[in-house]
Amino acid sequence: MALRTVSRRGLAGLSRNGGGLGLGLGLVTVRGLKTFTLPDLPYDYGALVPYISGEIMQLHHQKHHQTYVTNFNNALEHLDQAMAKGHSPTIVKLQSAIKFNGGGHINHSVFWKNLTPVREGGGEPPKGSLARAVENQFGSLDSLIQKVNVEGAALQGSGWVWLALDKDQKRLSIETTFNQDPLVAKGSSYVPLLGIDVWEHAYYLQYKNVRPDYLKNIWKVINWKYASDVYEKECP
Ligand SMILES: [Fe+2]
Repeated sequence: MALRTVSRRGLAGLSRNGGGLGLGLGLVTVRGLKTFTLPDLPYDYGALVPYISGEIMQLHHQKHHQTYVTNFNNALEHLDQAMAKGHSPTIVKLQSAIKFNGGGHINHSVFWKNLTPVREGGGEPPKGSLARAVENQFGSLDSLIQKVNVEGAALQGSGWVWLALDKDQKRLSIETTFNQDPLVAKGSSYVPLLGIDVWEHAYYLQYKNVRPDYLKNIWKVINWKYASDVYEKECP
């Protein structure tokens, strides 16, 4: 099988610390292979109490998200080795692990930014052009929230419910993805404004099996300013 070898000489020698690239997803360069790191939360683990417990936040961040990062990096390293050997079965086999763990890393990195403590504006409604778009398309913010909650509660198994911006259509859209599929898997024009994790690990310790209560309460700590900033940047 024909295989093209790409020289990595230009990247050799970059250390984990010295070669770091701040691309928003905690990206560093090791031996020419880009790997990912767990991003810090922009608030304390207990900052979202009483809506999300500190125990959930700590486990979710330190254990679940960290595992996605670790497994994503492992899969990328194996991919690198398989590509160097030109071993196509291994290259193909690794794709599901890359999608699942890479998606988990992408999704959680957005999720932490979608939340913020009440004292820092959590739950305050959107302003500006996003507020007008919500009003135009959904009638009211309450109507949008209700629709997101219905979709999130109805999602079978594990996954995510999103408030997405379709950049091409310049329209908001409520979307769901299964497992750790990132929103971009539904189309390259979709940009996540809000992504709500509806895996049980996101709520079970506090809400048990009552996902609708978790969905009802999470809006008290939603960071609409983040969503508004993304909207204005992507849809000026
Ligand atoms: Fe999660």
